[in-house]
Amino acid sequence: MLCWQIYIWFFLPIATTVAVHYECLPYPVRSVCKIEHISYHPGDQISFPAGYQQYHIRLPKSMRKTSSRVTHFDHQLYEAMHRPTSIEMIRVGLKELSLPTKLLLGDFSNNEIDSVNTTNEDNFHITYLDLSSNKLRNMNFVSALVNLEILHLGFNLIKVIPNSVLSTLTKLKYFYLQHNYFISSIPWNDIPRSTIHLDFNTNNLTEVVLTNISLPSLEYLNIRHNTLLKFNVTELLRAAPNLKEAYLLNSDLGEIQMRKIYAELTANNVTFKSPFKECEYDEESDMPYEACMTSYQKDSSSKISLQTVLLYLVLVGNVVVFMCIVLLVFKLINRNLIRYLQ
Ligand SMILES: *[C@@H]1O[C@H](CO)[C@@H](O)[C@H](O)[C@H]1NC(C)=O
Ligand SMILES: *[C@@H]1O[C@H](CO)[C@@H](O)[C@H](O)[C@H]1NC(C)=O
Ligand SMILES: *[C@@H]1O[C@H](CO)[C@@H](O)[C@H](O)[C@H]1NC(C)=O
Ligand SMILES: *[C@@H]1O[C@H](CO)[C@@H](O)[C@H](O)[C@H]1NC(C)=O
Ligand SMILES: *[C@@H]1O[C@H](CO)[C@@H](O)[C@H](O)[C@H]1NC(C)=O
Repeated sequence: MLCWQIYIWFFLPIATTVAVHYECLPYPVRSVCKIEHISYHPGDQISFPAGYQQYHIRLPKSMRKTSSRVTHFDHQLYEAMHRPTSIEMIRVGLKELSLPTKLLLGDFSNNEIDSVNTTNEDNFHITYLDLSSNKLRNMNFVSALVNLEILHLGFNLIKVIPNSVLSTLTKLKYFYLQHNYFISSIPWNDIPRSTIHLDFNTNNLTEVVLTNISLPSLEYLNIRHNTLLKFNVTELLRAAPNLKEAYLLNSDLGEIQMRKIYAELTANNVTFKSPFKECEYDEESDMPYEACMTSYQKDSSSKISLQTVLLYLVLVGNVVVFMCIVLLVFKLINRNLIRYLQ
């Protein structure tokens, strides 16, 4: 008897702390399970309610004692979620990701992922994958994801795009690889012909050679802020006859060359106006990068001073209104007091 009590006393707390059940927050879309806080390490006993096809796990809107922590996204966690088709798991400290083959949409941006396991598996269904702002150093895992249409790999630490890693992605349409500061060349031959949108903004491309390359669907190309010394627009327009927008500003190209590039783009109806407000006019007025940044800094400082002035005016206005109210109240009290005394 005593032995039994000791047994319960000893093991029950352990059992209850190990098995954690998560509930979804109230949300009007029935297929979506939103969770603000989750903690998972491989081997943890964890469970979720059944019947949800989409999981949204991200930072809570208000402060909490602890933030979410999911170091590994593995098979066991996916099974516990009842194999949803869509998972957004943002800012949970994810380090390792084992992609489930049945997943259609995965947003694992803003984590610390340095490895993605797509080995020993085939037939990945995923069409949308966002791994931006992580710590990826290589992108070999990508070649297995043959159904991808949108791939976000921006803001990582990727150094090279290995040969033929992209050529298997025959459905790829949007490819983002901006701010991977070390990438110095693109295997243009491997870029799938289905590609519509390419973003290589802020990498370390030293040259772009498009001889014999054909990208018939390409409408958008961004290779701003690389280290290009020359660029042949005629070649680009031949390779991508349906191009609509091209962002090519590279400070090393110099003003004269940039002016020629803009003239040729204009003549071919290709837009190059910067989508970013801070440098809205630099692509038009051929301002080199430095000039654009300095004018931006000047701009923002004048914006701040304007804000301060406005704030000041509002403050003064408030003080005036407050004084008026005080005066009015004082007058009213005074009048009533006189009437009372009379
Ligand atoms: C990758 O995933 C497969 C199948 O899920 C597993 O067998 C393998 O051990 C994993 N590899 C690594 C390096 O984790
Ligand atoms: C960019 O490329 C240049 C020339 O190839 C090289 O000297 C430089 O170290 C590279 N920068 C980075 C951040 O890799
Ligand atoms: C382009 O194709 C032609 C003909 O096939 C070939 O002779 C040439 O070497 C190719 N150029 C490049 C840069 O691949
Ligand atoms: C740009 O490429 C076109 C077409 O291949 C070629 O005729 C032209 O000479 C090139 N321009 C420069 C400046 O290399
Ligand atoms: C550019 O657009 C104008 C007006 O739509 C058109 O007349 C012209 O032929 C176009 N030029 C090219 C090179 O497509």
